[in-house]
Amino acid sequence: MTQPSQLAALLARPEPLLALAPMQDVTDLPFWRLLARYGGPDVYWTEYFRVHATWRPEKWILESLTGNNTGRPAIAQLIGNDIPSLVRAAKELQHHPVAAIDLNLGCPAPVVYRKCAGGGLLREPKRVDAILGAMREAIGDGGVKFTVKTRIGFDDPRVFDEFLGIFARHSLDLLTVHGRTVAEMYRTEVHYDYIARAAAALPFPVLANGNVHSPGRAAEVLDITRAKGLMIGRGCIRNPWIFGQIRAHLRGEAVLLPRGREVLEYVEALYAATEPTAAKERLQVEKMKKYMNFVGAGVGRDLASSKEFLHHVRRATERAEFFRICRDFLDHEEPMPLVPFAPDEAVATAVADAHG
Ligand SMILES: Cc1cc2nc3c(=O)[nH]c(=O)nc-3n(C[C@H](O)[C@H](O)[C@H](O)COP(=O)(O)O)c2cc1C
Repeated sequence: MTQPSQLAALLARPEPLLALAPMQDVTDLPFWRLLARYGGPDVYWTEYFRVHATWRPEKWILESLTGNNTGRPAIAQLIGNDIPSLVRAAKELQHHPVAAIDLNLGCPAPVVYRKCAGGGLLREPKRVDAILGAMREAIGDGGVKFTVKTRIGFDDPRVFDEFLGIFARHSLDLLTVHGRTVAEMYRTEVHYDYIARAAAALPFPVLANGNVHSPGRAAEVLDITRAKGLMIGRGCIRNPWIFGQIRAHLRGEAVLLPRGREVLEYVEALYAATEPTAAKERLQVEKMKKYMNFVGAGVGRDLASSKEFLHHVRRATERAEFFRICRDFLDHEEPMPLVPFAPDEAVATAVADAHG
């Protein structure tokens, strides 16, 4: 089965579609493969290809597509605003194993939005209309699908209805809505009511995105929004079991929580999976700290011990020291819900800014 028809088949099921959110410097092929070992999402998103006039596909992102052996379809995300370049990229990427081409209308990093790409485009409905028209034509409506991932506005969600009209006009195959404005970054509550509005108004499937951290929350968000599925980002860095847990919960089965020791094994597997050959130990420990910003928010018995964990981890410089700290907090048999004790939005903002 081709990837587009695999995606169509997944969307045709009565079960909600569970998607991995695109996350720069996180959702690469090693991370996809690791998630797949824990049950994994139904569909994988690449981090964004940064498209401009002299763009050539970023090698490491392309490798996620060509080396995808998860057995699940993958969607290639683009960010940019130059129509000829986006059209060229959309045409070129269709020659690779992709289910869909996705346009990013949400990135809140100032370096991106100031150039009027990502979330910055939500200040310019006419420009988005023109971009979507050109991309829809370049992608066609036979094989590879055309999808968009958006926030609900730049600094005022009152523009959202206008954008819904634009999305409908270009017959997207799927829309993901992160229920915050660009100005809200990751700081506020998620406005699930806007996602519900999109799901009710649009003739194609909508995925709800933002703060889905647990199977219970997943069920609530599906209930509130009536979306076709969920896209999950930070929640699955902290808890790679989350997709399987959500499936079990929605079937009415008991949700199995991993024990501390299993979480420790996950951190070890993450270290091994994401370590490039010949990587310097110090650099790999630094890389692990980025993942630990998310994992750490749910480690320990309470907020104080999760802060203490992060405090120590951020000071580690060597592998042995890093894992000694992880063992101190995780080498136990207690079940772990892996839900953040405090919002990790501040951390996510810092990380996303750094990568924008
Ligand atoms: C480290 C990081 C990198 C991200 N990179 C991207 C990206 O490349 N493209 C994109 O559309 N969104 C990106 N996002 C946003 C996520 O896809 C998602 O919309 C957001 O984290 C909210 O979902 P969550 O609460 O499940 O994490 C990024 C988020 C984080 C934390």
